[in-house]
Amino acid sequence: NMDMDHENMEDMEGHMDHDDIPSLKASKGTQELSLPPLLKKQQGSDFDYEVVAQEGTTQFFDGTQTKTYGYNGNLLGPTVRLKEGETVKVKVRNELNEPTTFHWHGLEIPGSEDGGPQDEIQPGKSKIVTLKADQLAATLWYHPHPHELTSKQVFKGLGGMLYVDGTDQDFANLPKNYGVDDIPLIFQDRIFDEDQQLNYEELMNSDGTIGDVSLVNGTLHPKLTVTQPVMRFRILNGSNARNYTFRLSNGASFTQIASDGGLLNEPVETDELTLSPSERSEILIDFSKLDSDEPVAITDKKGNVLLPFDLDFESKAMKNSTVSWAADEPFLTKEEKDLPVSKEIELFGMMDKVTINGQKFDPNRIDFKQEKDVSEVWEIYNKPDHMGGMIHPFHIHGTQFKIISRDGKGPAPNEQGLKDSVLIEPGERVKLLVTFPEKGIYMYHCHILEHEDNGMMGQVEVY
Ligand code: C2O
Ligand code: CU
Ligand code: CU
Repeated sequence: NMDMDHENMEDMEGHMDHDDIPSLKASKGTQELSLPPLLKKQQGSDFDYEVVAQEGTTQFFDGTQTKTYGYNGNLLGPTVRLKEGETVKVKVRNELNEPTTFHWHGLEIPGSEDGGPQDEIQPGKSKIVTLKADQLAATLWYHPHPHELTSKQVFKGLGGMLYVDGTDQDFANLPKNYGVDDIPLIFQDRIFDEDQQLNYEELMNSDGTIGDVSLVNGTLHPKLTVTQPVMRFRILNGSNARNYTFRLSNGASFTQIASDGGLLNEPVETDELTLSPSERSEILIDFSKLDSDEPVAITDKKGNVLLPFDLDFESKAMKNSTVSWAADEPFLTKEEKDLPVSKEIELFGMMDKVTINGQKFDPNRIDFKQEKDVSEVWEIYNKPDHMGGMIHPFHIHGTQFKIISRDGKGPAPNEQGLKDSVLIEPGERVKLLVTFPEKGIYMYHCHILEHEDNGMMGQVEVY
């Protein structure tokens, strides 16, 4: 039916296939990379930390103040550090002119503290949440989650890192001097209007807003001065929709040590790293092994320079950069691999037509129930459409899961670690081993933020 097809074509205008998205402009390396400050403990109050969502301005371009959002500042937010096993009280306050929530992405906390869309805080209001870091050391993050406003609020600058620090990382002798040899890298693409503003309503794409400029930790045209030969980078894809494949400009390899939820079963040598929105990865780069006459940078897959490095260390002061460990248990037991599928999830559609199992998010509907501490297999299927479909990054709140298989094949070595988000290709079926250590209502959704806001989200009640 011709009319039908024509209508469909019009619907798809502005749809971004992952192969033809705009390239990122190369960093000119004119600004030293900004480092998010560490969130400071409050003294003498009935809470340990305070996080305030607020409006501000940021100077990305000479002579222009761009209106942005930030936590405790103008853009992004301070890094929150929790010790493994520690419980803290955080006062969260909304100083925006619209509702927001404070979601702790990757933290295995009760649904009541998780800051999903059911937990809106109105302008001028605050509340105290209790965060217990009862999980392995990991690089997590926090961001807003108000229904239909998440994509805009993240785009305008809300987001920050959340580390769980644990003793399990000590044995590996990993760099851990914040800002010196242990550095967060929040990669985000952005698009500015002709007034150099982040006017979301005009710039947004309902299939995921893709930018043409790259920010790292909110810095446009960043460079990083490297003062230690061995550097640990904690990389977050904090973009609304763009997938990144990171490489080094000289093609050198590096070591991936962690995925979303903690250390990998064993470190993996690689020369590229792909992250879909909300995924994290920790890598080590040994700069002393690189030929220092050649400039080196982190690039994307097309070779666009995203973060050039200025090497400024005594290579003689080389320390032993080899890290190695191997878990004494296999990543998945036979029983885990053989568990039958108990929850089936089908991701489908594009633009504002995205659905999960044929439905859009309804805050009054519980889609699934699962018992606390009982592992179940979730099978996620990314159903292609007549245009081929697109990658959906699938995320579940309140759990760190394991990937059992992709189209029947066991996980690659760099996916043999805990995860809370997983990249799913069109046509792919991914089995996850999901366990919730706490109770409550949790979201699961596509982490293309516009898809999430368009209702590509469901709720699981853990009892
Ligand atoms: Cu990164 Cu529903 O969250
Ligand atoms: Cu989350
Ligand atoms: Cu999606």
